[in-house]
Amino acid sequence: MSNTATVSIDGKTVEMPVLRGVDGPPVIDIRKLYAEADVFTYDPGFTSTASCESKITFIDGDKGVLLHRGYPIEQLAEQSSFLEVCYLLLHGELPNAAEFEEFDHNITYHTMLHEQFDRFFNGFRRDAHPMAIMVGAVGALSAFYHDSTNVDDPAQRMISSHRLIAKMPTIAARAFKYFRGQPFVHPRNDLSYAENFLRMCFSVPAEDWKPNPVLTKAMDRIFILHADHEQNASTSTVRLAGSSGANPFACIAAGIACLWGPSHGGANEEALNMLAEIGSVERIPEYVQGVKDRRYRLMGFGHRVYKNYDPRAKVMQQTCHEVLAEVGHQDDPLLKVAMELEKVALSDPYFVERKLYPNVDFYSGITLRALGFPAEMFTVLFALARTVGWISQWKEMIEDPLQKIGRPRQIYTGAPPRDYVPVETR
Ligand code: CMC
Repeated sequence: MSNTATVSIDGKTVEMPVLRGVDGPPVIDIRKLYAEADVFTYDPGFTSTASCESKITFIDGDKGVLLHRGYPIEQLAEQSSFLEVCYLLLHGELPNAAEFEEFDHNITYHTMLHEQFDRFFNGFRRDAHPMAIMVGAVGALSAFYHDSTNVDDPAQRMISSHRLIAKMPTIAARAFKYFRGQPFVHPRNDLSYAENFLRMCFSVPAEDWKPNPVLTKAMDRIFILHADHEQNASTSTVRLAGSSGANPFACIAAGIACLWGPSHGGANEEALNMLAEIGSVERIPEYVQGVKDRRYRLMGFGHRVYKNYDPRAKVMQQTCHEVLAEVGHQDDPLLKVAMELEKVALSDPYFVERKLYPNVDFYSGITLRALGFPAEMFTVLFALARTVGWISQWKEMIEDPLQKIGRPRQIYTGAPPRDYVPVETR
């Protein structure tokens, strides 16, 4: 393939370099286009636009491949731990034993929140959606940790990264407890990351939480599956917010707000609601017809990048079976509906032609419900796990010498210039 691409318009010709990454399609570098040809490019939804250079995550959507720093997601989900994946995403390499011990210690010893922070939760209505609490509470971290908001200081960037990874489970568990009307449970440093989170969610004063290695492992794996996913909507939001120099806590709050939407992280809650609405295998044909009539979408299906089976969905499906077997819900009617719906959709030309496959959210709702979480918590768990991806991408952006404030342009289609008319003559 050529090393340059040429655009000719109105007598001006601009030759632009073609950049190549380690993998993925070549990228035409259009940076000089406006200066030299006085034209913009138009790409709503960024379907053909690379917004940055990144060394963190690679997706081949046609082949169904997801790599973090080069390592396949299946291997990380099977053999690694969430904290090790956090280190990998943040630092670029897997840690040796001493590096991991230090990292583990740094995260564990940042899990507590400032005592005054708890007052924020009480300001929310009791029926507040936990994601509403997350957006507010995580942004409020910037009001407490002034010693790690200077984005120009590499040490402060690392401390804020550690704080966010460490404190997200504590905040998420508090959002859950507040929603449930139960007292907050403080973190315990002798427990693993996933164990500590489950205990903060499910322990009550009358009864401590009993660890279950199968469920803890499943929680850890679910965190790994959601840890990062390249330049998706919420990650791009974090990068855009950070491009102005905003502090990391504010940027992550922006990412959480974006994640909440049903086309992104909110899809796991919607997917479970959809399975419950279908209710039985007999109703699947009628529901699928409604999708084809474009009355609604099949939630947990389809992806902007994957035009093949989402590799995370495969691991999630296996985890779902393991968790349901452990808690004795193998006969969960929603699992039956999900498996049959998947079968029907994968053989129906409507879905096949559009390359619609299950994504990570298709089985995550059933799994999280079996772990004891209500649907309102699903996106919160996604946010908790994605925090390391967001902060790694934010750090990479700040450290990129080519970094500029993000400022897209537009095609203006509004009114042409006109004169102001006083109200009495309108
Ligand atoms: N159900 C039915 N039809 C669909 C679906 C679906 N879930 N997704 C896409 N389509 C159809 C769509 O109608 C269109 O058909 P046509 O060409 O005939 O008009 C075609 O497929 C392409 O759709 P699109 O909207 O142009 O695709 P997109 O890349 O903009 O959307 C998506 C990607 C994830 C927003 C979409 O597939 C969707 O809404 N899925 C359901 C929500 C969901 O599960 N989201 C979670 C994504 S994975 C986790 C995450 O990243 O947060």
